[in-house]
This record gives sequence, C-alpha cells and structure tokens, in this order.
Amino acid sequence: MRIQDTIKSNFQHYFESIYPFEANPLVGKSRKASEEFGKLGISMSHLESRILGTLIRGQSCSKFVEIGTLTGATAVWIAESLQENGQLWTFEKDLKHAEAAQKIFDEYHSQSSGHSGRRIHLKVGDAVEMLPTIESEGPFDGIFIDGNKAAYCQYLDWAELNLRKGGLIIGDNVFLGGAVLGELDHSKFSPKQISVMREFNLRLANPEKYMSTLLPTAEGLMVAVKLT
Ligand code: DHB
Ligand code: MG
Repeated sequence: MRIQDTIKSNFQHYFESIYPFEANPLVGKSRKASEEFGKLGISMSHLESRILGTLIRGQSCSKFVEIGTLTGATAVWIAESLQENGQLWTFEKDLKHAEAAQKIFDEYHSQSSGHSGRRIHLKVGDAVEMLPTIESEGPFDGIFIDGNKAAYCQYLDWAELNLRKGGLIIGDNVFLGGAVLGELDHSKFSPKQISVMREFNLRLANPEKYMSTLLPTAEGLMVAVKLT
C-alpha cells in the first residue's frame, strides 16, 4: 500500500469515527437509489456534503437553488442546513432520477415539515430554461451547481442576477477529472466542456466580484461568496 493510501484510509476512518451520521437518514436511502442507477460515483460524498452544509449554515441561508438533483441526497443535506422554514428549489433533467428524488422528498416532508417547515421543490426539466420560473421567489442566498458541465457559465449568468450580496456559489467537478488542470489523459470531457469550466472558474476567481477558493476535493469544488 502506498503511503498516500494509508494516509487516506486513516483520514477516512477518522472522519467516519467523528461523523458517524449524515444530516438525515434519508441521505443514505437516496445514495442507495443512486447506486441502483449505477450513479453512486457522481453523488456527492459525505465529506463534500458536509462542506456544503457548513457553508450554508454559516451564511444563514434560507432560500437556496441546486442544479442537478440526481436522487436527492445533496438536496436533503442542503435543506437540513438551511434556517427554519428554509426553501430549496432543485432542478433535474432525467425523469427516472427525478421520480426517485421526489419519493425521498415526499418522505422528507412527512418527516420534518411539521417542526422545521423546510421544503424541497423539485423542478423537472432543463435548468437553463426553467430557472426563470423561480425568479419571483428571489433573491436567493445561494446556489449549488452540479448539472450539465457545458452550461456552468449560463447557470452563473443567472446566479449573478438572482443571488443576494453575500450569496454562496458552489460548483462541483470544476477540475473535470483533471482535464481543466491540463492533464492530457482525460478524453471523457469535450473541449467545449473544458473551456466552459475554465471560464467558470476564472469568472469566480475575480476578486472584485467574489471572495472564493478552489477546494482540492477529488472532483474539485469551487466555493465563492458574491461581494456585490
Ligand atoms: C459527472 C458528473 C458529476 O456531477 C460528478 O460529480 C462526476 C461525474 C459526469 O457527468 O461524468
Ligand atoms: Mg458532481
């Protein structure tokens, strides 16, 4: 075993020992549904979800948007991190994933709405087309972008107009498996996806508009606070 693997497994072991539970038991149920679709690999990990939850609670967010629901694990994490009566609007294009996610959300509402008032609104369809339909609910306190990798800059255009000052913009997969970093053996992503993701990162790195950083998670996580 390489030394890095030893360190990683020690870290993983320690992480799980101090965080034995996720935000809600429905997170595990949702990940199981992702696994049944063969999509567990693109579901946010416990560690990544906890980064999101910590930032969302730290910013006292009440109204949040997610692009790319999959089966709802991250949505439940986001919802549990919002203030009481917080609302999440989450967008999913794939009908099978949306159906599985809606089951999780129905269970979530029957379990928790009575005491926390938190709600998850699932929007089925292409987020670029559907985001305007929720604008009257804004301005929003943050957005988590994890959808179509070639549309990240369009999601960002929308966020710039519909998030409050101090709002959070968090993007998953911003390294595109290493392609964005210039690693050449990644043919999985198209030149368009790579150029869009580089532009997305560069726009959020602008210190006049954002305080931000790249977190070197396995997939790369962009974390930005909107300054204006
Ligand atoms: C892919 C998408 C994701 O959101 C992710 O976290 C990993 C991979 C993909 O489309 O390949
Ligand atoms: Mg992702």
